Amino acid sequence: MADLDPRTLGERAERMILALGAISAEPRRLTRQFLSPEHRRAADLVGTWMKAAGLDVTEDALGTVRGHWASAGEAAGRNTGKRLLIGSHIDTVIDAGFYDGNLGVVAGILAAEHFAKAGKRLPFALDVLAFGDEEGVRFPATLNSSRAVSGEFREAALDLKDADGVTLREAILRYGKDPADIPAAAFSPDEVAGYVELHIEQGPVLENRNQPLGVVTAIAGQSYLSVELMGEAGHAGTVPMMMRRDALAGAAEIVLQAERMARDSRGEVVATVGVVTISAPATNVIAGHVVLIIDIRSGSDPARHDFVDRLKSAIRTVADRRHLGLQVTQTRNVATTPCTAAIQDGFAAAIAATGGEPLRLASGAGHDATAMARLCPVGMMFVRCRGGVSHNPAEYASPGDMGLAVAALIRFIEGFKA
Ligand code: GLV
Ligand code: MN
Ligand code: MN
Repeated sequence: MADLDPRTLGERAERMILALGAISAEPRRLTRQFLSPEHRRAADLVGTWMKAAGLDVTEDALGTVRGHWASAGEAAGRNTGKRLLIGSHIDTVIDAGFYDGNLGVVAGILAAEHFAKAGKRLPFALDVLAFGDEEGVRFPATLNSSRAVSGEFREAALDLKDADGVTLREAILRYGKDPADIPAAAFSPDEVAGYVELHIEQGPVLENRNQPLGVVTAIAGQSYLSVELMGEAGHAGTVPMMMRRDALAGAAEIVLQAERMARDSRGEVVATVGVVTISAPATNVIAGHVVLIIDIRSGSDPARHDFVDRLKSAIRTVADRRHLGLQVTQTRNVATTPCTAAIQDGFAAAIAATGGEPLRLASGAGHDATAMARLCPVGMMFVRCRGGVSHNPAEYASPGDMGLAVAALIRFIEGFKA
């Protein structure tokens, strides 16, 4: 058997994370968007590692790299058996940390290598998947690559445009793939026994509890509200304050209102405005047209829906008082994804086997597992990250913790019942 020593596994994981982190669109910070030249280079590196690990490597129409380790039955030419899918993503946010998504892909390769290098066949096949569209930074949608694998890809997504006006369809063609092949990327539910994902926690719970690993119970549901405010552009020096219809001042009130309401929910709902777009920004012009996007999340779908309804009515009140035109569009409504109980228990046993206390916690961040839950049972394991920091270049997980995580993933696979 290849090495199960967490220390060696952690050092290897760190070297691979650093190598992937060097592949960026920008010289001094990590930015790697879906179907970009950087995505291509990262996918090539991942493919090389998968091959070296002894896996059969293919790539689907959305650029997802797949490393396959055949089941015992398949290797003997009998039956193909089921598959256990292990995945995460290699796209990043702008000015990202190195670990978000990338760690899950690296861990999947190291875990599959453990079996492949020893020639150990399992009753089920392993498929390691490196998705490319988890962050939703390039196109106004997300999880397209995992949706394609779960058979949930929506044809309409092909017409979405990036900031340069390039459609997803064009981006796929430029990447050397054919949108007509997307349906072939889907697995059928009866050939898949489960999907598992290892990810940094992106929050502070494990660090506070002094534990390296945790079992994810559910992935929070999400709503996005796109709010367009139409005021009147005017001269910053001449229009009296009482005569203005300032769209940006209205937007500011809405940002604070969303924050106030989320704080009042006492941890049940979180709300964030990370994008505010002023149509013709200038120091000396009153903003006439502003669009902001509000990201709302909760582990409780009723609480999230109630929050969205109350926030929409508060937004209307602000717009009316300020005489602003208003258009509110809900651009995302994703239900909370529960993690399958048997997979949670499998991860808990694997964490205990590596000497940890199997803490259970929910995920506030979105993951490819949400799309995969449409196909099969899903589960996730979290790895402690320093200060709970993520979506930030300061993101960090120690080699020691990553090594324990890979060892626990291997234990999980050994105990998995397809
Ligand atoms: C992805 O990182 C998300 O949770 O939005
Ligand atoms: Mn992620
Ligand atoms: Mn992320």
